[in-house]
Amino acid sequence: MKIALVTGANRGIGLEVSRQLATLGFKVYMGMRNPESNRDLTDDLLAQGLNIVPVKLDVTKTADVREVQTLIKENEKRIDVLVNNAGVFLETLGGGLESSVLNVDPVIVLKTIETNTIGPLKMIQAFVPLMLSQGEGRVINVSSGMGSLNEMQGKYPGYRMSKTAMNALTAITQSESQGSAIYINSVCPGWVRTDMGGESAHRSVSEGAETIVWLATTDNPPQGKFLRDKETIDW
Ligand SMILES: NC(=O)c1ccc[n+]([C@@H]2O[C@H](COP(=O)([O-])OP(=O)(O)OC[C@H]3O[C@@H](n4cnc5c(N)ncnc54)[C@H](OP(=O)(O)O)[C@@H]3O)[C@@H](O)[C@H]2O)c1
Repeated sequence: MKIALVTGANRGIGLEVSRQLATLGFKVYMGMRNPESNRDLTDDLLAQGLNIVPVKLDVTKTADVREVQTLIKENEKRIDVLVNNAGVFLETLGGGLESSVLNVDPVIVLKTIETNTIGPLKMIQAFVPLMLSQGEGRVINVSSGMGSLNEMQGKYPGYRMSKTAMNALTAITQSESQGSAIYINSVCPGWVRTDMGGESAHRSVSEGAETIVWLATTDNPPQGKFLRDKETIDW
């Protein structure tokens, strides 16, 4: 049985990825900041026969990351797939104003980077060594086209920079894992109807989850790429 860990698994894309991986036979550790308040949701998934384990995991909290690392090491002695999905989009100014480089609060930028970039870094530090020791593993960083330097536009600088830096994390980790069967990639899920994406977004959560689940399951995944719709896109 393959073991997966998904961060931010209680709603949106993370929930859908967890549901799909569990349906495909994975045992899925579902990271969430507050498992107690999501009890109905996880009870429902368990009642459907899905092999899921809710775990308390705020990716900004090193103690949470360590506890989940210990739990998975002790219970499973391996991890096949890590999905760094948890993310925040904090930059709205209200009154129809969008944040820009010239008006954004740097504290909000730092908070965004703490969750969207440093959280995944902590997760990689906790789980890639286990993957290296078992000789293989996959990491999927849920990024965004808003972080693509090639497509870079104005507005929302904190979110954009957090995802550009996440993409750098993908490339650096891949480079440092060269010669091993570690497959780490960034994915842009597209614009997805979630609390973050809003109701006008073009894609369902199922469409948003597709490339992530494909990377977790395909026989020959790419290494160190940025993908959308299973195709490599420019950084
Ligand atoms: N939706 C889109 O259009 C879109 C487009 C491009 C990229 N993405 C990326 O896709 C990922 C998932 O987004 P989504 O649309 O599913 O967003 P969402 O519906 O807002 O869900 C975000 C998830 O992240 C969790 N989270 C936030 N901060 C966390 C932390 N410190 N520790 C652990 N979990 C935390 C949330 O938990 P709580 O319930 O506790 O808040 C929630 O489960 C994000 O990385 C996002 O940047 C989304």
